[in-house]
Order: sequence, then structure tokens, then C-alpha cells
Amino acid sequence: MIARHSIDQVLESAPIEDVVGQYLTLKRRGVNMIGLCPFHDEKTPSFNVNPTRGIYKCFGCGKGGNAIQFVMDVEQLPFAEAVRQLAKRFGVELAETGQQEQEEEQEAQRQRENLFAALAFAGDYFVKQLQESEKGKAIALEYFYERGFTTETIRRWELGYSDANWSGLLDAAVKAGLEKEVLASASLVKQSESGRWFDMFRNRVMFPIHSVNGRIVAFAGRLMGKAEGQPKYVNSAESPVYHKSDHLFGLFQARNSIKKADRVYLTEGYTDVITLAQAGIENVVASSGTALTENQIRLLRRFTSNVTVLYDGDQAGIKASMRGIDLLLKEDLNVRVVLFPQGEDPDSYCQSLGGPAFTEFLQKTEKNFILFKADLLFADAGNDPIRRAEVIRDILQSLALIRDTIKRVELLKELAGIAGQSQETLLYELNRIVRGNWQKDGEDTQREIDRIAEQAQLEPVSVSFSDEHQERGLLAFMIRFGTLRTGEEEPMLWEIAMAELNEGTDIVFNNPLCARTFDALRSLHAANQPLTDNFFTVTDDTELSSFVSDVLSRQYTLSDAWAKNDIQVLTEAQNALEELTSIFNHLRRKKIELTIQDSLSRLAELGPDEDWEQLLEYQMYLMEKRRELTEPLGTVVTNYTSVQTKQ
Ligand code: GTP
Ligand code: MN
Repeated sequence: MIARHSIDQVLESAPIEDVVGQYLTLKRRGVNMIGLCPFHDEKTPSFNVNPTRGIYKCFGCGKGGNAIQFVMDVEQLPFAEAVRQLAKRFGVELAETGQQEQEEEQEAQRQRENLFAALAFAGDYFVKQLQESEKGKAIALEYFYERGFTTETIRRWELGYSDANWSGLLDAAVKAGLEKEVLASASLVKQSESGRWFDMFRNRVMFPIHSVNGRIVAFAGRLMGKAEGQPKYVNSAESPVYHKSDHLFGLFQARNSIKKADRVYLTEGYTDVITLAQAGIENVVASSGTALTENQIRLLRRFTSNVTVLYDGDQAGIKASMRGIDLLLKEDLNVRVVLFPQGEDPDSYCQSLGGPAFTEFLQKTEKNFILFKADLLFADAGNDPIRRAEVIRDILQSLALIRDTIKRVELLKELAGIAGQSQETLLYELNRIVRGNWQKDGEDTQREIDRIAEQAQLEPVSVSFSDEHQERGLLAFMIRFGTLRTGEEEPMLWEIAMAELNEGTDIVFNNPLCARTFDALRSLHAANQPLTDNFFTVTDDTELSSFVSDVLSRQYTLSDAWAKNDIQVLTEAQNALEELTSIFNHLRRKKIELTIQDSLSRLAELGPDEDWEQLLEYQMYLMEKRRELTEPLGTVVTNYTSVQTKQ
């Protein structure tokens, strides 16, 4: 490996204009130098070099970078070779290996291994104390049996006991050759101000906490009996191998079951996990009484996207933990909840019902989180209209976090029932919140692009359809779903389609009659009016009405219009919604495409002294967005692209 500081030194010693100048003739133009690009054929120079910054950029083919990058590109060399070549030419002595860094890295790794060894030793020690010492057997083991844990369970979870002695673990560990400092940094022992060393865990039953890969990273120790001026549980402090917010109790033991069941039960306590697992419900983990963190959620997501949260039956805690659940929704997990009877937690209730009845209870009681939250909050709000309105807004805010449009609509329908509001009203509110979130997060591609375009002094681009067939197809779709009132889905689709159209893409209809039809639909929607069957037939605008009836009589389907025979004919509303989303994404992509082209031609026109870095940055952003929009669409895009290239 070449040391970082050597690379910096090479870049400092190798003037970009000298490096490039070996391969092509550069002419000075203001602060930059310009020449014919060595990477593509061109007659007018678009290859720019900026000596002060040490970088080059070709506006024709897009290649750019520093001196090392240039040598890599022009000589087709790997990074290290390019650095060596430059170092030789410009007389830089390379520190060939980053020996110091490597040693530091190895040292850190060695220390971590020492910590793991100390923790493993402690785990064994606590188990031995439980299974073999007189007090362990008489008090601690008895405590576990009383809680209903079997011998097998106690072994499986490696439960243990820390004796009342002030230095039981310390003495045994030192005797086995472990260093006090290592034990201390694993937070197993401590040193008092007077210099005396002592054990952290004393006279407690011990629960080892494992990493997802099965190494002990920490312990929790529980008092046996009543807590008198002492905490019920004591946990290991953070250490280089234990960051509380990165672990979930039981995940190592549960991970295969979670995958298999494609669901995880999330509880609060260690004993909840152990009891449920003993009863045959093995896909359980515990957050250990604290709010879930993003890292924990990401950890879970490796195994499933379905989470059922098991709440203790104490009402006070529930509302506080609801915010934590929003985090789950935001990370795209499906969340259900189970509320236990007053005074029960999963452990106690499972012990009293027994495994099979408990499993049945879970299945019968579990409820979608949004609906659970709605029930609870509405019951709280009673008939007070102001509080009910607040509740609706609160719940819609949770709902807005769900990214899957179809799921969102499904839940919204149920919510309408609970709230006693029309679906349209709620959808209108929901869309407002979703839009608000987009703005807040700055994630709405469309807005972001327009904003940057403005900064880079580009005109925002409008998108138009590739041909009239597509325009007519989309309109036919809109009118059909706008007028259908038979089922539940269709008016919702109309709402969503209108919202998307209004929202994002600045779609321009080329055919003037198509444009007029769309305007009519848009004003109708803006006035919050339903689209009736005869809306286009009773109008004075006979030209429009005969056009619309022509559009409808041709029986266009989106599939016909957009992909000829590549895509299945619409059968149900949800397919239509997905297809519609694809179309809008296609249009967004097209808009980005046009904007990229636009910015490219702007770049070509720029004088050498003008600020091209911002435009480059902008282009990079657009290309990234284009990639994002392409990825999730997969084959659908291919179809639409083929339509586009036919024009
Ligand atoms: P048991 O009483 O043994 O059944 O435990 P529990 O899980 O039912 O306890 P509880 O519902 O009171 O608390 C839930 C979780 O919060 C526990 O499993 C612990 O992870 C954590 N917890 C509870 N009390 C304490 C405490 O005093 N200190 C710390 N650090 N954590 C606690
Ligand atoms: Mn409990």
C-alpha cells in the first residue's frame, strides 16, 4: 500500500498542465488551459485544464479528474501504477507501505479480541457460578426455575450468576492470565478511587448479550427479589465492542427463525424473549427497555420487513413508544402491534396461557399499527371535534411515512371508516402531508431539479409525450377511472392520478385538444368536483366533446398506448395504479434526460473563464437521479424506452 501522505505529495509535485502537456498541446485561455481531448475525437477543443486546482475536464466526453486520474485514463493503468509513474517522473519518494497505519489497525483489532476473550471468560464464569457454586444452585438457579425457565432454556441462553463476593470474577480472571485493564474496558470490573479493584456485577442473575454473530458483547444482571434502592437491572457500559444502540437482545438466537417466519416479535424485556422462545415462539428480540434506534432497525431488516411490536399492558408507556414506531414505518417496515391485558407483559402472559393459547392470542390480537393507533387515539379524543381533527392529522402523518402507495391507500380506506370521514377528504389531507414531507426532506426530485436548474441559470424543462397515442391513452385512462363509481378503488385512483399529474412532471400535451381535455379535468379536480359520466357530453364545447367521445370509443388502454403488446392489459385497479406510477416515472426520467442535454449544450457554449464547476456538479446530480429513477422500474422502463425510441 502507498501511504496517504505520499499520494498527496505526488499530487503536489506533479503540475497538471505538465502531466497533460506530455500528451497534447495546451493553450492558455484565461485561468484555464484548453486543448483537443485525448479521450475522444474532436476538431474544436473542449478539453479544459485548471492548473490552480490541479484538475482537468472534457466538456465533450465528460472525462475529468486530477493528475493521477489522467495517467490512469490515458495509460490505462491501475491507481497504484499511475502513482508510481508520476512519483518517478517528478522525483517523489514513496512510502511504499502505510506501516504505521497497518500497525495501528492491527493493534486495535488485537484489543478487540482481548475484550471478546474477557467477555467470553466472564460468560463461562457466571455459568459455572450458577451451575456449580452452592449459593448459585440454591438461590439463583432456584430463581430461574421459579420464573418457569427449564434447565434446557437456562443452558441455551447461557444464563449465569454473579456471586456476592466483591472480586470473584476479578480473581478468577487474573488467575487465568487476563489483564485488569482489559476487564475494565469490557466494563466487567472497576477500580475505586482508593485504587481497589472490584467486580461490576454482584449477586445478580446474569443474561449475556450477544452480537448478531454470536459473540458475547455485554451482560445484563438482574436482582433476585425486590429492588431496594438498587436498579432492577444493571447493564454493561459501552465499550469498543458494545454500542448499546447497535444490538438487540436475542437476535443471534432468533435470526434463523425470523428469516423463516418472515416476521419478528419485538418486546421490551430479556425475560419476554426467553419465555416466548421456550414456548416455541423463537422469532423474538428485545429492545431492552429503550427506544429503538435506526441501527437496530437496519439490523432487523436484514432478516425481515415484518415487525410485530408487543406492548406491555400499561397504557402510559404506549403513547410514548408510538413515536419510535414511526421510525419503523419510515424504514419501510410493516408494523403490527399487540397490546397485552393490563398488568401483563409477554413473559407473564405467555407463562399463564401456555404456548399454544398464547400463539393464538397473538394471531387474534395483532393489528396494523396505524389502525391500532387510530383506535386508541380516537377513543381518547371522544367526541371533541377539535381533538378528533388533531388525531386525524397525527395518524395521517404516520401514514405518510409509508412509501408503498398501494399500502397507503388500503390503510387510508380503513382509516376513513374509523374516523368517520370520506376517503377523498382524508386523501386530500394525506397528499398535502406527503407533499409537505417531500419539501421538508428536499427529496422531491422534481423540485430539487428545478431549484438547481434555476441556480445554474437553466430554464426548467417541460416534458411532452412521445406521440399523440400516448396522450390519448393517458386521458382515456383518467376519464375512465374518473367516472367509474362502482367500486371503492376507482375514485381513489382518480384522486391519485390527478395528484401525481398536478404535482410533478409539468407534462405538456402536444395535441391542443388533448391539452384542453386535460385542462378541463384539472379545473374540475381543483374545484373538488367529481367527474360525471356526462361531463364531456353536455358541454357547449362540441369540438371537445366529440374529441373525448372519439378518445373513449377507441378503447385505448394504457397498455395499448404505452407499450403496444409488451405489457399485459389492465385487469384491476391496482395494476393500473402501478402502471400509472411507471408512466410518471418515465416522464420524470425523460425530463431529467432533456435537462441533462440542455446543460450539456450550455457547457459547450461556456467561455473558459465562466464558472463551469457548478454546472458539472448539477449534471452529476441529474445523472444520479436518472439512475435512481431507472433502478426500481426494471423491465417496465425498457418497454417505455422502446416506445420512446420509436418516435
Ligand atoms: P422482569 O421483571 O425480570 O420480568 O423484567 P421485565 O423485562 O418485565 O422488566 P420491565 O418490564 O420492568 O423492563 C423492561 C426492560 O427494561 C428490561 O428487560 C430491561 O432491559 C430494562 N430495565 C428495566 N429495569 C431496568 C433498570 O433498572 N435498569 C436498566 N438499565 N434497565 C432496566
Ligand atoms: Mn416481566
